[in-house]
Parts: sequence; C-alpha cells; structure tokens
Amino acid sequence: MTTHGRISKILAAALLSGGVSAGALMLASGLHAQTPAPAAAPAEPAAPAAIPGMVPATQVPFHADWAASPHAKRDAEEFNHWNKEGVIPVECARCHSTPGFLDYLGADGSTPGKVDHPAVIGTVITCIACHNDKAVALTTVTFPSGVKVENQGTNTRCMTCHQGVESTGSVNKALAGIADDTVAPKLDFINVHYTAAGAMLFGSVAQVGYQYPGKSYAGRFAHQEPYTRCTACHVTHTLAVKVDDCKACHKEVSDKASLHAIRTDKIDRDGNGDINEGVGQEIDHLKVKLLAAIAEYAKSVAGKPIVYTPEVYPYFFNDLNGNGVADKDEAKFPNRYKSWTPRLMKAAYNYQFVYKDPGAFAHNGNYAAQLLLDSLADLGAKVKVDIANAKRP
Ligand code: HEC
Ligand code: HEC
Ligand code: HEC
Ligand code: HEC
Ligand code: HEC
Repeated sequence: MTTHGRISKILAAALLSGGVSAGALMLASGLHAQTPAPAAAPAEPAAPAAIPGMVPATQVPFHADWAASPHAKRDAEEFNHWNKEGVIPVECARCHSTPGFLDYLGADGSTPGKVDHPAVIGTVITCIACHNDKAVALTTVTFPSGVKVENQGTNTRCMTCHQGVESTGSVNKALAGIADDTVAPKLDFINVHYTAAGAMLFGSVAQVGYQYPGKSYAGRFAHQEPYTRCTACHVTHTLAVKVDDCKACHKEVSDKASLHAIRTDKIDRDGNGDINEGVGQEIDHLKVKLLAAIAEYAKSVAGKPIVYTPEVYPYFFNDLNGNGVADKDEAKFPNRYKSWTPRLMKAAYNYQFVYKDPGAFAHNGNYAAQLLLDSLADLGAKVKVDIANAKRP
C-alpha cells in the first residue's frame, strides 16, 4: 500500500475510534477529497466497522500508544484553554490544535510557515497533524529567534511546537533603552512558554534562553549518537522517556526518577563540593539559588517583594505579606509582578525557561547551567549570591 493509502486508512480508523473531533473530521475529509482514493482495505470480518473500508482502532499501528499520550489528552488545559472564546487565535493555533498545525504547514492549501486562520476548538494532536505530505517533507525548523536549522528529519515536527515563543532577541527588544536597575512599570513578565525542549537541545544555536552579552554558550547538546534526537530518547507515540536505553550506558539509572542522577563529568556546576551528584540535581540546586537571588533583588533593589508559583499564569506575583509563599490571594492575575527591572527580567526569564523544561538536564544540561549561573552572576552585581565555588561548564 502507498504511504498515502496507509495514512488514509489510519486516519479513517482514528476517526472511527472517536480519536478526532468534528472539526478535525471535516478537515480530514477535506484532505481525503484532495488525495487519490485510497486502496480499499481488505474486509475485516471481525471488525465492528460500520463504514466500509475502515479498520478498527485496535488494528491501527501505534493507536494505543498515541491514545495514552499527552498529545491525545482531550481534557488537558493545552487543548481547552480557548473554549470560552470559541476559537483558538492565530498566535496559539499552530501548537495547540490539529487544524492550526496543518494551517502552519500549509497542508490545508494555505501559505506554509504561518497560521492564516483561527482554529476550531476541540481537537488534540492527531495522526494527521504529523502524518501528511507537508509534515513528512518538513526538515527545517525556525526558532523564535528567527534562526533556521536544517536537516532535522522526522523530529522537525516535534521542534516546530516544542521551541518556545521568545528569545534573547525579543527580550533585548522589550528591555531596550531601560537602565539595568530601573523599574519599568509598563513591563509584564516575558514568558518563554513551556517545555521548549527543541530550543534547549539546540542551546546557543537557537538562542531561546536569555544569553548575556560577552559570554559564550553551549550549542547543540553533543550527546552519544543516536541519542541526540527527540525520538531516540522518547518513544515516538507514547512520548515516554526510554529509561531502559539510558541504563545501558548510565549505571546510575534504575527508574525514571533516577535519571536526575546521571553524570559523566567532574564539573561542580553548583559549587557545593559534590561532584558525584547528577547533572539534574546540580541544575535543581542552581534553580533554588537563583530563585532566592531573584527574591532578594526584588525586595532590596526593585523595592517590591516577589514570589513565584509554577502553577498560575503569569507565575511571578507580589509577595504582599512577605512570607515567601505564593498564597492563594496573591497568585492572581491582578496581583502579577509589575516592578520589573531589566536585570530582574532576564534572570526571571531564564529561571522560567529552565523550570518549565523538566528535561533540561538531559536536553542540554550545560546550556541550562550556564543560563542559571550567568543570571546569578548578573544579580550578583547588586545582591549577595553564593556561586564563588561554582564551575561554569
Ligand atoms: C510554538 C508553539 C506554541 C505556541 C505558538 C503556543 N503554545 Fe502554548 N504550549 C506549547 C507547548 C509545547 C506547551 C506545553 C506542553 C507540555 O509540555 O505540557 C504549551 C502549554 C500551554 C499552556 C499550559 C500551561 C501550563 O502551565 O500547563 C497554556 C495555557 C498555553 N500553552 C497557552 C498558549 C496561548 C494562550 C498561546 C497563544 C497566545 C500559546 N499557548 C501559543 C506550545 C505553544
Ligand atoms: C506528534 C507527531 C505524531 C503523531 C501525533 C503521530 N505520529 Fe506517527 N510518527 C511520528 C514520527 C515523527 C514518526 C517517524 C519515526 C520517528 O521519528 O520515530 C512516526 C512514525 C509512524 C509510523 C511508522 C511508519 C512511518 O510512516 O514512518 C506509523 C505507521 C505511524 N507513525 C502511525 C501513526 C498513527 C496511526 C498515529 C495516530 C494514532 C500517529 N502516528 C500519530 C509522529 C507522530
Ligand atoms: C502540533 C504541536 C506539537 C507537535 C508537532 C508535537 N508536540 Fe509534543 N506536545 C504538544 C502539546 C500542546 C503538548 C501538551 C499536551 C498535554 O499536556 O496533554 C505536548 C506534550 C508533549 C509531551 C509531554 C509533556 C508533559 O508535560 O508531560 C512530550 C514529552 C512531547 N510533547 C514530546 C513531543 C515529541 C517527541 C514530538 C515529536 C514526535 C512532539 N511532542 C510533537 C505539542 C506538540
Ligand atoms: C538525551 C535524551 C533526550 C533527548 C534527545 C530529548 N529528550 Fe526530552 N526528555 C528527556 C528526559 C530524561 C526528560 C525528563 C523526564 C522526567 O524526568 O520527567 C525529558 C523531558 C521532556 C519533556 C517534558 C516531559 C514532562 O514530563 O514534563 C518534553 C516535552 C520533552 N522532553 C520533549 C522533547 C523533544 C521535543 C525533544 C527533541 C527536540 C526531546 N525531548 C529530546 C530526554 C531527552
Ligand atoms: C550509547 C550510550 C548512551 C546512551 C544509551 C545514553 N547516553 Fe547519556 N551519555 C553518554 C555519554 C558517552 C555521555 C558523556 C559524553 C557526552 O556528553 O556525549 C553522556 C552524557 C549524558 C548526560 C550529561 C552528563 C554530564 O555529566 O554532563 C546526560 C544528562 C545524559 N547522558 C542523559 C541520558 C539519557 C536521559 C539517556 C536515555 C534516554 C541517555 N543519556 C542514554 C552515553 C549514552
């Protein structure tokens, strides 16, 4: 069977299984109409198929894997955030819906490389999002910095969504003309967005972390081949990390939690004197140090105490009672932090980039550590930070 025939068959089955919404159904039938009729599937005597030529979901390759993955999680905030508005805006649709991704690719007949229309609500990331002629042909990823990276094969798809939405350039632009320690009440927190794994993996090539001028940064994580690609470390359709593969080379790994203990070098990134703890653990320690420095700077230089919570947008709030905890009445949008100085913003931006990528230590531990350490050093011009023994990788 041709690839197209197979994918049409797969799609048909996904539709049958209820795996796609009405919106995607319309889109999918649109695509069917544009492609030559697929070869009829062989009769399936045991199949409950009500429509001729369709196969049940259980016979579709990888259907069960995909259905159990976050990409199919119909009730996730990522797929329901726009329900009240009724459509997903152009700037969000690419990564949060199947029709938006098809629009971005140009697989719906529109201009490739941009989203032309808001997308219908109610879809997840279905087979057809990643399996259509345009997605298969996609080999160049364009990061939010504008940097293009070619020849990324099947994983280009992953990085087209897992790349963040801001960059060194966009942060510099937002902060241009404001002195380092001047509070600019117009500024709101610049949020890089979430699990920007592709950007982390490519480090200074992608320039999505805030890179301080005059410093050099790690490029693409130079891991052992072939474990440099998304789908070498993650199972393509469940997205789970292939923990058993890691075990083969990293003796400290027994289960998923122990991945944080992986280490192969002797660089004391957090400066605590322990060169046996994992890179993941060192990054966790650096995050704690950076958050403490952010809080100290906000109080003593910006003049307003700050508090962080990963749960509530836009994450940084005024710590009204100064207890260091984001209390319920504090973690509310109207109480969002509004006393940003450029120095504070850069540090907070990098903190969020690393915090919101739980795989940062494996995607590019050195880049993550450099961003955290440089943010600490920059805040260190104004407040006391404890990085005297830390070794920048
Ligand atoms: C370049 C791709 C991309 C774009 C554009 C994008 N997002 Fe996301 N968004 C993601 C990814 C990837 C995640 C995280 C998925 C994960 O790992 O859970 C995410 C997560 C979210 C979440 C869940 C946050 C959380 O803490 O759980 C919200 C809400 C969200 N995005 C809103 C938006 C909005 C609103 C827009 C448009 C203004 C937007 N996104 C544009 C890729 C994108
Ligand atoms: C998020 C993107 C994504 C989604 C969603 C997705 N796939 Fe895939 N799939 C891939 C990638 C990428 C590959 C190529 C192999 C690799 O890189 O691991 C692949 C490979 C395959 C293959 C192996 C043959 C080939 O064409 O390369 C089949 C069959 C397949 N997928 C079917 C499905 C089906 C059926 C669904 C829905 C139930 C689905 N996929 C959903 C990304 C996706
Ligand atoms: C069309 C955009 C898009 C594409 C393409 C895409 N993702 Fe995702 N990915 C998302 C969104 C949105 C979520 C959040 C879904 C959720 O929280 O249920 C997500 C979730 C994930 C998660 C789980 C994150 C978590 O917080 O648990 C992993 C891992 C992941 N994707 C890896 C991949 C890989 C690997 C590929 C390529 C094979 C890929 N993604 C392709 C948008 C995309
Ligand atoms: C060297 C192996 C490796 C590579 C390459 C890799 N990842 Fe990861 N990824 C991991 C590990 C390990 C974790 C952390 C899992 C954990 O502890 O929860 C992770 C976590 C993630 C998460 C967050 C999952 C969660 O539970 O919140 C996403 C999303 C993700 N990776 C996407 C990608 C994408 C997209 C690519 C390709 C651009 C990629 N990864 C490349 C190993 C890798
Ligand atoms: C075939 C062997 C091999 C496999 C499999 C492998 N790695 Fe590695 N890994 C290495 C080698 C060699 C290094 C050190 C040199 C380098 O960075 O390439 C390393 C380095 C690392 C580092 C950085 C450690 C440090 O001290 O800087 C992390 C994190 C890591 N690997 C995570 C993973 C994860 C997660 C997996 C499983 C998804 C994995 N590795 C699978 C060989 C492997």
